[in-house]
Amino acid sequence: MRIEPLIYRGVRRIRRVSGSEILVRGGRVLTGWGMVEADVLVREGRVAAVGTALEPGGTRVLDASGMLVLPGAIDEHVHSREPGMTWKEDFSTMTRAAAAGGVTTVADMPNTSPPVDSPERVAAKGRDVAPRANVDYAIFAALTDSNAPRIDELVRAGAIGLKAYMGPTTGGLEPPDDWSVALALRFSRTTGIPVFFHAENGPLIEGLSGELRGAGRSDPAAHSEARPPVAEEVEVARIAAIAGAMGGNAVIAHVSSAGALELIERSRGALRAEACAHHLIFTTEDYAARGLLIKVNPPVRTREHVEALWRGVRSGLIRTIASDHAPHAPEEKEGDVWSAASGIPGVQTLLPFAVDAALRGLIRVEDVPRLLSENPARNLGIYPRKGSLAPGSDGDMVVIDPRGSWRVREDDLFYKHPEVSPYVGMEFRGRIKYTLLRGEIVYEDGGVAGGPRGRWVTRGGVR
Ligand code: DOR
Ligand code: ZN
Repeated sequence: MRIEPLIYRGVRRIRRVSGSEILVRGGRVLTGWGMVEADVLVREGRVAAVGTALEPGGTRVLDASGMLVLPGAIDEHVHSREPGMTWKEDFSTMTRAAAAGGVTTVADMPNTSPPVDSPERVAAKGRDVAPRANVDYAIFAALTDSNAPRIDELVRAGAIGLKAYMGPTTGGLEPPDDWSVALALRFSRTTGIPVFFHAENGPLIEGLSGELRGAGRSDPAAHSEARPPVAEEVEVARIAAIAGAMGGNAVIAHVSSAGALELIERSRGALRAEACAHHLIFTTEDYAARGLLIKVNPPVRTREHVEALWRGVRSGLIRTIASDHAPHAPEEKEGDVWSAASGIPGVQTLLPFAVDAALRGLIRVEDVPRLLSENPARNLGIYPRKGSLAPGSDGDMVVIDPRGSWRVREDDLFYKHPEVSPYVGMEFRGRIKYTLLRGEIVYEDGGVAGGPRGRWVTRGGVR
């Protein structure tokens, strides 16, 4: 794609052309390189111009004065629960929540029922969810020992990347062995396909869980003790060794511990780090008030780990922040610490959380589009079509009022089960006013608009 100069200065008369146009006028446009007061014109779904004093020619105008205008967020790690687990969530509820949260592209994970682990299942899922997609979507395939020798077929079927579950979690997928990981990373080196890793070690977790359970532990914090930092470090070290030899685009998903982050730093670029909002917010002290609502894999950790993660976000070592939106039904989140489901829904609060962090000075404002739009698009191989507001990019945008704020109520959340959100009651500075998908309003002031028009995003283009 050709990138035109980003900013036109001076009046530029926009000639009316056939087809749809929308002008987002007078906002503070925020991209990874900084902020500028400008108008953004979207024509036929793509950014046509970013500049000052663009004059509309019969174009629809959204007044963004005093507002922040960002590229739509790309949540590179969500679980819609399709196919087969739709009592927890479905594509419609998840993507409505995404639109309301300023997320215009989601990348959906494969630990479903059945798992998305074959070319046929990738193709079927990409096709089947389309009528329920309120935002654009990409599809991950699970890496398994049986599909590792024919990854090219998964990609040809439309997979945006691979997900390797190295330890036990929802879906019960078997971890791929070292050879399968090597094959995936070798393939990744030549094609750029990302391989995302859930890095936790099964034998350590099973051994420790057995001991803690045997000792009669039943409090929520036992979950964090059963999955200590060393369980993450062991897998990150192994993946670092294989990635160091094979190359490729290896992403450690939801990094949660200081030690894992150090290993990623020492890998000198062989590994990329993704953090999740909940690991930057909650600590083991929050079990007291929130109980099993914050049971998640990897688990929430102590304050020192959370601080190390924030340092990683600020230094750029952590390249992306995702939600790992992983909803369950309320009855699945109750009961025994050992049997309750792991996972936190969060696609709707991801961008509000990051904007709030910027408005509070925890990160710079321009870090928000870098962490939530540009780098996720790069990870997925869809930049600058997505994750950018340069002319030629898709017109995916969020308009946020920084003077407003949002205290999260169950009623505001579009999830199938808003009651399992541990974010209810929390207050975020900034308020999402509009979300635009390829130039069309999909969310406005509390309401999802326009019906499902999301498209399947693959490496080859939008299907
Ligand atoms: O807590 C988690 N829940 N961690 C995962 O890795 C998977 C997720 C889920 O799918 O429920
Ligand atoms: Zn996940």
